[in-house]
Formats: sequence, C-alpha cells, structure tokens
Amino acid sequence: MRHSAPASLFFRNASQLLTLAGPLGPRRGKALAELGIIPQGAILTHGVHILEVGPTRALEAKARRLKAEAVDCRGSVVMPGFVDSHTHLVFAGSRVGDYEARLRGKTYEEIARAGGGIKLSAQRVRQASVDSLVRQAQGFLERFAAHGTTTLEVKSGYGLEVAQELKLLEAIRRLRKSSRLELVPTLLAAHALPSEYSGRSDDYIESVIRDLIPPVVRKKLAEFIDCFCDRGAFSVEQCRRVLAAGKQQGLIPCLHAEQLTRTGAARLAVEFEAASADHLDKLSSTDIRALGRSDVIATLLPGANFHLGLEHYPPARKLIEAGAIVALATDFNPGTSPTPNMQFILSVACSAMRMTPAEAIAAATINGAWALRRGDRLGSLEAGKQADLIVMDVSEYREIPYYFGVNHCRMTVKAGRVVSSQSSLVSRQLSVVRGPLSVVRCHHSVVRSEYSVERAPRLLSS
Ligand code: NIG
Ligand code: FE
Repeated sequence: MRHSAPASLFFRNASQLLTLAGPLGPRRGKALAELGIIPQGAILTHGVHILEVGPTRALEAKARRLKAEAVDCRGSVVMPGFVDSHTHLVFAGSRVGDYEARLRGKTYEEIARAGGGIKLSAQRVRQASVDSLVRQAQGFLERFAAHGTTTLEVKSGYGLEVAQELKLLEAIRRLRKSSRLELVPTLLAAHALPSEYSGRSDDYIESVIRDLIPPVVRKKLAEFIDCFCDRGAFSVEQCRRVLAAGKQQGLIPCLHAEQLTRTGAARLAVEFEAASADHLDKLSSTDIRALGRSDVIATLLPGANFHLGLEHYPPARKLIEAGAIVALATDFNPGTSPTPNMQFILSVACSAMRMTPAEAIAAATINGAWALRRGDRLGSLEAGKQADLIVMDVSEYREIPYYFGVNHCRMTVKAGRVVSSQSSLVSRQLSVVRGPLSVVRCHHSVVRSEYSVERAPRLLSS
C-alpha cells in the first residue's frame, strides 16, 4: 500500500541535533568521532526529504511559511535513524534450545556439528510457509522501528537449497513491499553445507553458482552476495568462486570473515573490493593494515560475541587507528545475536571494544549507510538527504550507550513519515489506533498542531 507524500515536519529545540554532516564519503580515523552537533537544533522536512537543518531560531520562519507540523524535541537528542547493515531477519521459530545448550557448556561449533545451529533453522524454514516467515519478520520489524532503525540489510541463508533460498528471498521481497522501513536484500548463498551434500561441498558451491545466482539476478531478488567463509563453513577458494560469479552478474560482494578462525577472508574481501567484511574477530595485523588501506567497510558485530558469551571482541580500536572504515550492525539472527536493538550494540561496542559513544554512533549511521552503498542518500541529516531520523529521550548523546538495555527511542521517522512512536505520545496526543499495525499506521499520526515529545520518567533523578 502506498500513501501520498507526507507534508512538512519541523523538529525543533533538540538539545542536540546530531547531523553527522561532513564530506561525502564514509568516516575513518578521527573523522569517525565528528557528529556535527547543533545545540538547540532543528530539522525541517518536506515530503520524503530534508529541506533544512540548523539552529531552531534560524528555521522558524520557513517552517511557518510551509505550515509544517511541529514536533517539540526539548530535552531530546535528534539524530539519523540507525542503518543496520547486517541482519538475518527472516527465519522460522527461534533457537532458544541452542542458547540453553551453550549456557550448559557446549560451543557454537559443537552444536552446529550435532545438527543444531544454522541447519536446524534451515529445517524449520523448509517446513514454514512464506506467509508465516513474513509474519514473524514483520513482528521483528516493528521492534527494529521502535528501537530507531530506519534501514536494514536482510540476508537469506537459512534455505540451503535452491528452492528454499528462493522462498526466503520471496519473503524478503514481500517484506520490502509491505514495510515502511527500507530493506536491502542479500543472497547469503553459502551459509552452511546442507546434509545432502556432506563430503561434497564443492558440488554445493557449483549448484549455488549454476542454479541459484542466475534466477536471483534475473528476478532482481538480491542486491548483495555474501558467504560464510570460516572453519566448518566454506573455504576462501569456494567463497572466491561464489563472489566472482555473483559480482560478474551484478551483485555486490560482502563477506562473513574471520569470525571463528583466521582464514584469509578479509583479504579476499579486499581483493574483491567488497562492500564490507563482517565480524573480523580473528584478524592478523597484516589484515588490519590491509583493511585500513582499503575501502572495504569493517562491519563489527559485537552482539554476537556478547550473546555467545565470548571473552574476545573484534579489534575495533586497532581498526580505527589503522584508518579502516568501521561500521556497527546487530547481526540479528537466531543463533548468535537475537537483538534488533542498535542502541544495545552501541553499548557493547563502547564497553567491550572501547569505541567512544561518538564513534559508535557514526559507525551505526553514516558508515552503515556506506556499507549498503547508500551513503549519498542516508545516514546523516543534511539538506537533500532522505528524512530518516529518530528522537531519543536523552539530554546528550553519550547517554545512549551509557544507560544500556533501555530503549531511548521516542519516535522514528522514515522518509518523512512517523513510523513508530511511543504509545504515551501517540495515544494521548493523537488518538491513533495502537496495536499490531502501529508501524504501518503511525504515519497517519502526524500531528495537526504542535505537540511535545514529553520526557519519560528519568532513569535516575539528578
Ligand atoms: O553472522 N556466522 C554465520 N552466520 C551468523 C549466524 C547464523 C546462525 O547461527 O543462525 C552470524 O553469526
Ligand atoms: Fe551474520
């Protein structure tokens, strides 16, 4: 269902407006910490775009002329919506059983070898209808929106056979049509070896290249191509063949690299000028230097380390110091990182990888947008860019990772429309129907007259 373009919105009096404005391109080194903060900031949207950004006083007159609907953001931080550049959104059921088995001492790889892990998810996908896959994912998407994500990448990868992978990509196609969020589809062709191919992994790789990539490209079901390059998954050589075939047919390579063991996958990503190399737990110092010199985005997924209870985390500081372009993403998936909450990822990135709050915010917005090759349109609040923004109930940005495990997001705006809003705000002021369709309906909630983003009870009295 498509709706007419929304009117103008005027977000005013934000205690901090984080513009993330800067030279066109991803952020490295010191520039990663530059948030382009405007105190008492405002942002004026028109239709799906940002018209102007600046101090509130400077924008008032124009907002009045445009009869913009005003949102008073006093006491809040306004910033770009999160761009979550790595998720496995579509799966059937969960893997809470694996979770408990791990807590009792089994490792992720032991569980996978015993038939749990990705293969268990693949078995469940086989039994699921497209409808049920879409329904479950829609529920998750509401949570992504409520936590401030406006764009997310979505991988296939739990099909492990041609028809099932196409089924997952069909579910993703339907989600792209129905969701107010922007979904970017990725074919994760080589994720795990299906049991039928046991001992014949090259044959599986051949079938991916011969039978899966061509119809996916023909039907425009994916934009990126990813492989899980690791011990127990696929070799560098096998991934090279898959990425080459995909790239040759117009898909953009990215890679699950150096998660469980150091394989050389990060170098493969550099060789292919991949959009990103993701995870990167086990990088060597030459890998770090190679990434630092390249334009491949180092996408770190510390939610996976947290959920797996690991002691080690990706070497974020070393990567930043080497000049690599660091992004952060949830890796939302049933096995290693079942959280849709980018705010929590920021907390883990800061506390476990020593990123600063400013670096973590840039990594989760503008650099995520570049990882999805959308940095010219998304990821910062600048005139002409898409109006994707969130209103956070914190008085300054460092409180976002600091008060961890709570949702600070009070309002999510995607392409100039309110797609999620705290119930107190919406129902009291706007009498909008709440319920399972709230994400779809909230854009109707755009106000008639000025209302304020009321402060939630403070976490701590100060
Ligand atoms: O990014 N490492 C491979 N893939 C996922 C995990 C998938 C799963 O366990 O279901 C990841 O961590
Ligand atoms: Fe992943």
